[in-house]
Amino acid sequence: MNNFASSLKNKNKFLIFGCGFTGSFFAKTIRKFGCNVLTSSRSSKKDPNSFIFNSDTITIPDEKIFDGVTHILSCIPPSKNGKDPVLGSFQNKLKSLSLEWVGYLSTTGVYGNTKGDWVSEVDQPKPFQKRSQKRLDCEREWIESGLPVQIFRLPGIYGPGRSTFEAIRNQKIHVISKKDQVFSRVHVADITNAIIYLLQNKNSLKFHQIINIADDEPCSQLEVIQYCYDLLGLKMPKPILFEDAKKELSPIAQSFWIENRRVSNKLLCETLGYKLIYKNYKKGLKNCFLNS
Ligand SMILES: NC(=O)c1ccc[n+]([C@@H]2O[C@H](COP(=O)([O-])OP(=O)(O)OC[C@H]3O[C@@H](n4cnc5c(N)ncnc54)[C@H](OP(=O)(O)O)[C@@H]3O)[C@@H](O)[C@H]2O)c1
Repeated sequence: MNNFASSLKNKNKFLIFGCGFTGSFFAKTIRKFGCNVLTSSRSSKKDPNSFIFNSDTITIPDEKIFDGVTHILSCIPPSKNGKDPVLGSFQNKLKSLSLEWVGYLSTTGVYGNTKGDWVSEVDQPKPFQKRSQKRLDCEREWIESGLPVQIFRLPGIYGPGRSTFEAIRNQKIHVISKKDQVFSRVHVADITNAIIYLLQNKNSLKFHQIINIADDEPCSQLEVIQYCYDLLGLKMPKPILFEDAKKELSPIAQSFWIENRRVSNKLLCETLGYKLIYKNYKKGLKNCFLNS
């Protein structure tokens, strides 16, 4: 990490589009290394390093924010019409800059349903949901832009402040069982650190345009929920079968249960040598438990 600090500090400037859960964790982390970071959000913030960008209302920041920018990270999902919000507003501007690197946060939803099989970057995406097709279209837009872009496909993101603990505490938890159903997930700190690791070793590692960031152990949601109840010292309610529970779920929540896949991290962790901080949900959730 010290290498990273000395190689990126001062002479580089990051723009992070979409400073939500992951964007703000990333921004906070690289600021600790002394990096210059500007972040976007749709509403005004007290933070002088934040600017307003909203592609729906076409609220565009002053061009000055782009002065000296070397790195971009986009954490904004596709717009309703399926286009990428950042490219839709700034493609020409981005092309005119001397960017060293662009990161785009995508989803493993683009792989579709593998009925529980492992899936990796070499597999042909087969989006099943409309929103996953839009996501794949946005990935293509980024690739076709010709910018030096790296796409990170992410499964369910969790971390301190956004995990099963909050769902339990806010009584939003659905304790559901569905035979053979698994989910992949990743702790927000591993998304951040994996990207930092790739930037730090950019000159020595082969450049891969698409990389999954996921933990080692996809597993059932029930296992995760049980583990959280145990840590909280509470009794988990009796699980409800998915078929009976689904009428209680929002259409988006239902859609997650229709797909079943195990996301491989071999490219990142074996070929490229990244070491996960939280290799499974137990390690990651313990961190959330201690920091919530
Ligand atoms: N959550 C997951 O489990 C998950 C899993 C896989 C992939 N992903 C994807 O990974 C990325 C990061 O995820 P996240 O959970 O950290 O996201 P998040 O917390 O929902 O943050 C999304 C950010 O995008 C901004 N945004 C949304 N629509 C916008 C628009 N039309 N114009 C400008 N800005 C807009 C939001 O602005 P405000 O700050 O103003 O709200 C927010 O900063 C997203 O693309 C997400 O879809 C998420």
